Amino acid sequence: MITTRLAVPLLASLLPLTLGLPVQAAETPDKGEVEVLNWWTSGGEARALGVLKSDLADQGIGWKNMPVAGGAGTNAMAVLRSRVTSGNPPTAAQVLGFDARDWAERGGLSYLDKVAQDMKWGDIFPQPLQDFAKYKGHWIGAPFEIHSTNWVWANKALMDKLGIEQPTTWTDFLASMKKARDAGYTGLAYGGQPWQDATVFENVMLATGGPDFYRKAFIDLDDATLRSDTMIKAFNNFRELLAYRDPNSSGRDWNLATAMVINDKALYQIMGDWAKGEFINANLAPYKDYLCFRTPGTQQAVTFNSDLMIMFKTDDTQQQALQDTMARAIASPGFQIAFSNNKGSVPARMDLPADELDACAQKGYEQVQAAAKNNTLMGSMAHGYAAQAAVKNAVFDIVSAFVNSSMPGDVAAEQMAMAIQDAK
Ligand code: BGC
Repeated sequence: MITTRLAVPLLASLLPLTLGLPVQAAETPDKGEVEVLNWWTSGGEARALGVLKSDLADQGIGWKNMPVAGGAGTNAMAVLRSRVTSGNPPTAAQVLGFDARDWAERGGLSYLDKVAQDMKWGDIFPQPLQDFAKYKGHWIGAPFEIHSTNWVWANKALMDKLGIEQPTTWTDFLASMKKARDAGYTGLAYGGQPWQDATVFENVMLATGGPDFYRKAFIDLDDATLRSDTMIKAFNNFRELLAYRDPNSSGRDWNLATAMVINDKALYQIMGDWAKGEFINANLAPYKDYLCFRTPGTQQAVTFNSDLMIMFKTDDTQQQALQDTMARAIASPGFQIAFSNNKGSVPARMDLPADELDACAQKGYEQVQAAAKNNTLMGSMAHGYAAQAAVKNAVFDIVSAFVNSSMPGDVAAEQMAMAIQDAK
C-alpha cells in the first residue's frame, strides 16, 4: 500500500524529465497555502480529506498535505511534537481530545473564538465534545465529525448465505461467528495493533458491564471498578471473542481488516465508523452490501471520538486569516455533511438534516443525539477521549499483552488497574 501511495507523486515528478519537458516550480496560490498534519491515509480517509482540500481550493487556497500513517494517530503526535519543538509547526493538525488539551496547556495554539462566536459553536456542538474543543473558555479545535467505536460492520451476502440474522445479544453474536468459522470463513476480521486491540476491548467492556461500568472504569479510572469481577469477566469475554480471528491478524492495519469483510473473507469487523469510509470508497451500499449495527450489548450507549483541527499560533497575518477560513469551512453545514458522507462518521453539529446522510449514519446520528441527552455519550479510551495519553498507553500495553499471550482475565484486570494507577 505504501508503495502505491508513494509511486504516484514520484512518477508525477519524474514525468517531465523523462518526456524532456521543462520542469515548472509549483506555484503558490495568491491566497497562500495551508499545511495540514493528519493520519488520514486509507482510501476512505484520503477521500474525506479531499473534501476539505477542494473546499479550500475553491476559495483559492493551496494545500500541503502532511500525512503520518498510523491508525488512531499513534505516530502522528510524535511527528507533530518534533515539528513544534523545532519551531516549525504546520498551519494545523488533526488531534484527538486529551491531546488537544495537552497542546492547549503548552500554549502555542491559535484561538478560534471569533469564528466560534460568529457560527454559534456553543449552541451546535454537543457538550461532551465542547469539553475538549474548548480550553479555559477558548475554542482550540474545529470538530470535523463525531465517530463512534461501538459498531459492527457485517458482510450481508455472507449473512444471507449462512442464514445469520443480525445478532442483538453477545451470545448470538459469538454463535454467528462460530457459524461463519464452521463454514470456512473468518468470523472476526481483526487487526492486531495495540490501538485496535484497545478499540475492540472497549466494546467488550461496554457490552459486559454497561455504560456505568464503562464510565467508572475508563473515565473515572476508579480502582475498585478496574479490579472488579465485571472487569475480569470482560477480559474473559474478550478471550472468547479473540478465538474468531484468523491466524494472520498480528500487525494488520485496520483498513486491511475492513477489506476482509468487503472481499467476502470475513463476516464482521468491530471498528469505529471510519471503517464505513472503506465501504463507501468501494462503492458499496448500506443494508444492500453491508450491515452496520451497534456491538451487541452496547446498544444503550455511544463511545465517541472526534477529530479536532487545532491551529498553531503564527505572526503571519495571511496564515492567521487562513486558519480562520479553515475553521469556518470545517464547521459549515455543507462540509459537515459532505465530510461525514465520505468519512463514515456523523456530523459534529447537532442541528443538521439527517436525510442527507446514508442509512447507517442516520441511525448513528440519532443514537449520538439520544446518548448526548441521556448522558451515555462517553469518550472512547482507545481514541483519546476517556483519559490522558499516559493512561491510554498503559491500557494499550496491557490489553495487547493479553491479546498476544494466554494471560488469564484476573491477571489482566489486576495489571491494568496497576498500570493505570501508575500512569495517572
Ligand atoms: C480517528 C479517525 C481515523 C481512525 C483510524 C481515529 O482515531 O478519529 O479519524 O480514521 O483513527 O486511523
